[in-house]
Amino acid sequence: MTTALSATATLHEQAARLDADDTLADLRARFLLPPDVVYLDGNSLGPLPAAVPAALDDVVRRQWATGLIGSWNAAGWWEAPLRVGDAVGRLIGAAPGQTIAGDSTSVQLFTALDAAAALRPDRPLLVTDPGHFPTDRYLADAVARRRDLEVRHVRPGDLPDFLAAEGERVAVVSYSPVDYRTGELYDMRTLTRAAQDAGALALWDLCHAAGALPLDVDGLGVDLAVGCGYKFLSGGPGAPAFLYVARRHHTTLETPLPGWTGHADPFALADSYTPAPGIARARIGTPPILSLLALEAALTAFDGVDLARLRTKSLSLTCFFLRCADELLTPLGFTPVTPAEPGRRGSQVTLRHAHAHARGLAAALAEVGVIADMRAPDLLRFGVNALYTSHRDMLTAATRLRDLTEQAAYDPAPPTTGPVT
Ligand SMILES: Cc1ncc(COP(=O)(O)O)c(C=O)c1O
Repeated sequence: MTTALSATATLHEQAARLDADDTLADLRARFLLPPDVVYLDGNSLGPLPAAVPAALDDVVRRQWATGLIGSWNAAGWWEAPLRVGDAVGRLIGAAPGQTIAGDSTSVQLFTALDAAAALRPDRPLLVTDPGHFPTDRYLADAVARRRDLEVRHVRPGDLPDFLAAEGERVAVVSYSPVDYRTGELYDMRTLTRAAQDAGALALWDLCHAAGALPLDVDGLGVDLAVGCGYKFLSGGPGAPAFLYVARRHHTTLETPLPGWTGHADPFALADSYTPAPGIARARIGTPPILSLLALEAALTAFDGVDLARLRTKSLSLTCFFLRCADELLTPLGFTPVTPAEPGRRGSQVTLRHAHAHARGLAAALAEVGVIADMRAPDLLRFGVNALYTSHRDMLTAATRLRDLTEQAAYDPAPPTTGPVT
């Protein structure tokens, strides 16, 4: 007991020291977080950025109520998908004119997978990760059915061997740099190069990376990428997603959903489709202006932020949490499944408990003010956004989890479906 108490005291001192040295601490004021909540679920839904309410108020009361339909031009609504796309592009290392914002990640994934397959018409294989998020796997299957291709499930670590045997037949390799369950980070550079050396295209799902890590899609020569606006970008529930297509593919890019807003001359309302030049050809229908402009305002939370420094802080937070877990939680049966090596860790830590159901633990944690996430049956996910998370938050999460586990203050047999909170 004395040892446990002194371990906690030492962790408190460490947290205080690390937070005192945190030069990014002031960025927390860019978010409207409830004061007594430790929010570690920003990798599911980012919190509300302080800039959003006033921006949305202006969009609704002035641009919409007063400007009416004239706001499509006067308020820049028509260009919003491209403008917001470029703002996301700055966070993923894309030069302007290659990223578009709108629709959901799933729609953008379908577009990207199908367009990638069309760019490699003589290759019959579509490679994806068996551990990929379900929508990525379902849509790979759907595109394969539509185009008479075959899906191969290959773990990122096994890609080089797979390509050595079958590389010439692969049209596209579709991966995420961060495993959404374990938080493991894969090497985008190596995997992109491996795919391209085999003549395939590299398509990345950046949902768990955009806004969390410095990315360099142009520098790595990535072919296509997608991602959502509602996790680390904090664009709000159901925020528009984004699609990046490298400029070199634009002239030959054929999208499966050639809606009228992607037409070269949309207001000519022509009988047949001629794609717009550039990434604008990936537009589909009328853009969701309210949510696009909420995302645009949300992205100002990154203004002036050096993503390399954000990453350094994120690693410090996850490293510290792993230390807290080691001292406070491992003795209670928790095991980290996120790699300890910083270069292999995204911006989350996942803990597994051998016996306790993660759903019951996450619900009990929420009751004591720590909002984390879980993946049934046994994974508890702690997402870290270094824009607003402190080391003290990480310690609070670990001590509250320790306390409720020690006291068995959670439902050991929670319902198996439905949201946690
Ligand atoms: C890697 C990944 N891709 C896609 C999605 C979801 O796609 P959508 O935004 O269409 O719901 C998620 C959701 O958590 C995800 O983690």
